[in-house]
Amino acid sequence: MATANRIRVRVRRFNPESGRSWVQEYEVPLRKGMTVLDALIYIKTRLDPTLTFRYSCRMGVCGSCGLLVNDTPRLACQTQVSEVVGEGGLVELAPLPGYPVLRDLVVDMSRMFRNHRLVKPYIVRRDMREVEEAPREFIVAPRQHLETYQYSLCIMCGLCNAACPVFNSNPNYLGPQALTVAYRFVKDPRDEAVEERIAMVSSPDGCLACHFAASCSAVCPKAVDPASAIQRLRRIIARAALGGYRKKTSRIAPPLEKPLRNIEQKPPTHNLAEGVSLEELEKEPPPPILDPESL
Ligand code: FES
Repeated sequence: MATANRIRVRVRRFNPESGRSWVQEYEVPLRKGMTVLDALIYIKTRLDPTLTFRYSCRMGVCGSCGLLVNDTPRLACQTQVSEVVGEGGLVELAPLPGYPVLRDLVVDMSRMFRNHRLVKPYIVRRDMREVEEAPREFIVAPRQHLETYQYSLCIMCGLCNAACPVFNSNPNYLGPQALTVAYRFVKDPRDEAVEERIAMVSSPDGCLACHFAASCSAVCPKAVDPASAIQRLRRIIARAALGGYRKKTSRIAPPLEKPLRNIEQKPPTHNLAEGVSLEELEKEPPPPILDPESL
């Protein structure tokens, strides 16, 4: 029975050795600012060392602590207990759907990692020497960078896939995570494998299988918005099929043979090794912002 400063945490558990699945309830003292992960760690360290769950960074970066909280996919470390506690002080936890359960709250995410690899989550150039020998950087204008930035924030927590009804019903569907990564590289001006990527995501198990439930975007803890990436991919596929999609890939920055425009070559005004105060540093004018397209 929960009191005002105690909560009941109900966990769906699974033992792979016996094949037994059951629900277990624990009583946890509520602290101000307590997260679901804090409650799980309390249970593990004080009440039941056999309870199994996964976490690492505790700050919403590693993406390993995903689970169902009251039937919604969430990161345990980013979920305040006070926000999700229900009637009678109850919080219900279960493993993420869409992935096989290994033990208790730990699921096997191999499917997501396999699909992630399938979409080639890296820049492909026709001349690989440009990447391997990297004489100079590729030019990416700030506005081009902003087009893909949001989609590059994915931490691969797998919540979007778990929330997706198609991912849960079609074992071959690439899933919102992999499709978002595919879009991010289709739009990346440095990438030259656009035809190959479009062919990959146009398959019946690619972005055309999406029913646009948009539940992926509703649960994404990083506001990546996979649903919009999938819709944008579909538009690109349609334009490519009509012959109207042309991608302009970025050039390699030219050698710095002459001083860049707008940069005055001046000797340094202070020596950091000798120590310089913050006030002196703040007096320095900021360097000019260059438009790479004008180089
Ligand atoms: Fe790393 Fe939650 S523990 S995201």
